[in-house]
Amino acid sequence: MAVLVLGGAGYIGSHTVDRLIQKGEEVVVVDSLVTGHRAAVNSQAKFYQGDLSDQDFMRKVFAENPAIQAVIHFAAFSLVAESMTDPLKYFDNNTAGMIKLLEVMNEVGVKKIVFSSTAATYGIPETMPIKESDPQKPINPYGESKLMMEKIMRWSDKAYGIKFVALRYFNVAGAKEDGSIGEDHHPETHLLPIVLQVAMGKRDQLKIFGDDYNTPDGTNVRDYVHPTDLADAHILAVKYLLADNDSNAFNLGSSTGFSNKQILEAAREVTGKEIPAEMAPRRGGDPDTLIAASDKAREILGWKPQFDDIHKIIQTAWNWHETHPQGYADQD
Ligand code: UFG
Repeated sequence: MAVLVLGGAGYIGSHTVDRLIQKGEEVVVVDSLVTGHRAAVNSQAKFYQGDLSDQDFMRKVFAENPAIQAVIHFAAFSLVAESMTDPLKYFDNNTAGMIKLLEVMNEVGVKKIVFSSTAATYGIPETMPIKESDPQKPINPYGESKLMMEKIMRWSDKAYGIKFVALRYFNVAGAKEDGSIGEDHHPETHLLPIVLQVAMGKRDQLKIFGDDYNTPDGTNVRDYVHPTDLADAHILAVKYLLADNDSNAFNLGSSTGFSNKQILEAAREVTGKEIPAEMAPRRGGDPDTLIAASDKAREILGWKPQFDDIHKIIQTAWNWHETHPQGYADQD
């Protein structure tokens, strides 16, 4: 049996492909390389460059790989701020892309899919930590595009029997421990890589977006989870579906919150660098606090995240940044 990984050249996708191969699985990767990196894909995976909304291309991938029994779908845009200024880009690639994909999966009879959803589907949570059963009222188009994907899946399950697991990630940070794969976005907008780029001297300073939020130090609080732990959750979710369990949704986080100021302090400790920072106005679409209740994934999937210490997570990201100052630029 083989697993098809869509977006397997991206940040979380590449960690999952690597982990699947370490576990001896056969892996087929599809990635458009619009944001992904060919060099991030483990060389033992079979690689196709293309867009999942190109249905003839996807039919060919399934026809050439009849062993595919399950799909893991990471191939989506994921920047909150960009989605606020270009929402149609998100509804087109994320939501419409999912419809095209499900049509082909239904046609070829592959009816198991694990897909990346997000904490951004919850909007401004009423209670903390956030449970899977809490209301989903996104406050940005990115979160809305993912919530629509979840809803489309629910109806596709009822009508066509396509079983899904939606994994709602909180804030992903860190890199494979040996520093061989990591996070490389263009442009980079995420907090930790930006903090580490300042530590490397590649940027002058960090701008902290808003210090008047309703949190202990006024800066946003987020729950950080490591990509290797996320990768393991995806593999467990595939097993869960292949064991004929019903569709489900799980939060993936560490259940601990760190403010933007705390992340900066922890990065100063890990790197030993000064990391200059200044306060800046709020960025659109940022909720005060996002912390996951992730007991459900632990109980039902048997997920046991290994990285529970923010210093350890930052250390793995720092290993990657120090050994790849240009990201994948030298390898792609
Ligand atoms: N931030 C700064 N300065 C920067 C960059 C970020 O202060 O230069 C702040 C943001 O305002 C926010 C926090 O750092 O308060 C985290 O921001 P990121 O951009 O790193 O991450 P987001 O919380 O916006 O979004 C991430 C993923 C989304 C996912 C969300 C769920 O990118 O896909 O986590 O929590 F939906």
